[in-house]
Amino acid sequence: MTDTAKPTSPESAKGTSSKDRVLIFDTTLRDGEQCPGATMTLDEKLAVAELLDAMGVDIIEAGFPIASNGDFEAVAEIARRSKRAVIAGLARAIPADIARAGEAVRQAPRGRIHTFVSTSPIHLAHQMRKTEDEVVEIIARTVAQARDLVEDVEWSAMDATRTPIDYLCRCVETAIRAGATTINLPDTVGYATPSEYRAMFEAVRERVPDSDKAIFSVHCHDDLGLAIANSLAGVEGGARQVECTVNGIGERAGNAALEEIVMAIRTRADVLPYATGIETQMLTRASKLVSHATNFPVQFNKAIVGRNAFSHESGIHQDGMLKHAETYEIMTPESVGVAKTSLVMGKHSGRAAFRTKLTELGLTLADNQFQDVFDRFKALADRKKHVYDEDIEALVDENLATSRD
Ligand code: KIV
Ligand code: ZN
Repeated sequence: MTDTAKPTSPESAKGTSSKDRVLIFDTTLRDGEQCPGATMTLDEKLAVAELLDAMGVDIIEAGFPIASNGDFEAVAEIARRSKRAVIAGLARAIPADIARAGEAVRQAPRGRIHTFVSTSPIHLAHQMRKTEDEVVEIIARTVAQARDLVEDVEWSAMDATRTPIDYLCRCVETAIRAGATTINLPDTVGYATPSEYRAMFEAVRERVPDSDKAIFSVHCHDDLGLAIANSLAGVEGGARQVECTVNGIGERAGNAALEEIVMAIRTRADVLPYATGIETQMLTRASKLVSHATNFPVQFNKAIVGRNAFSHESGIHQDGMLKHAETYEIMTPESVGVAKTSLVMGKHSGRAAFRTKLTELGLTLADNQFQDVFDRFKALADRKKHVYDEDIEALVDENLATSRD
């Protein structure tokens, strides 16, 4: 699926088809890399950024330039090499951070400064030790500073979902007045429910003057396993940018997974009138690359890119799959870059799948031989976790040897 026109304003986010274009903002190299143990080398970051750019990611958040010289260099080099994507650098609402982020993205054909500040009472009281008025003043000053450096400025209200709506609207209004072109309302601690998250976007977009001058963005963490549901709800509430990471890596329980949001939008096009510009056949490659670069394994049952996502072991499912792929698969493996569905041979497998496996292995058996080999296979599968092709070939040899005796 491709819809490569790149919207640069809320109006062009409408797209040319009846589907609204949803921008994919990948933060694997920033929020993803922030989780314990996921640090990547410069070369690994460059390889990930190159693949994300080729895959059609609209905005790549390449790092947090003030965090270290290494992070600055990575963002600057990714900015220099970028072809299609906007390259973003993160900055706290601190003048030195913003200046450093501006310098890092300067050489990108399209650079963005992404600046953020906390807005919730708990963060204001305990982390920032600032009053609401002081934070509003900081937003006005820092967004304007960023806007003096680049055309494309994203402002995020950290912990937006635990911020009273009146104050959140005041902050958003201030950021838009100061020149923010994207407004991100993150569920920083993964606390919101889908209906709450959607309602927050609807309320802010309705109440803030000139809200249509900015693109609204979702950024969801997965502490309650709701990151994808919340992201979709935010889009239904009017957001047109989704922030996500490959394999869902990120702080604590992670961020919304890029591959999941993209395939949900593609697979449920019947009820979700949106489109992304992602080449979905590259999703599995991206997952493997990020897993390799971060040393984070992908859980076997991970949606879309897990090893079992297109594998079937139970006899009933295998039988259905042999009759029609749509019986137990809602998307094709090819659509996400997996060569084919696999029917895994195990104790739950049935005759139909076993016969197909024998044919794939080039083994043709008479009916009486088949029954014997099938019985041997079932007995073996009860004893052994994985039954490999070699095991099945050995069972056939055993059958032949016994029938010769
Ligand atoms: O989760 C969060 O609030 C963030 C911000 C920096 C956008 O990652
Ligand atoms: Zn985050």
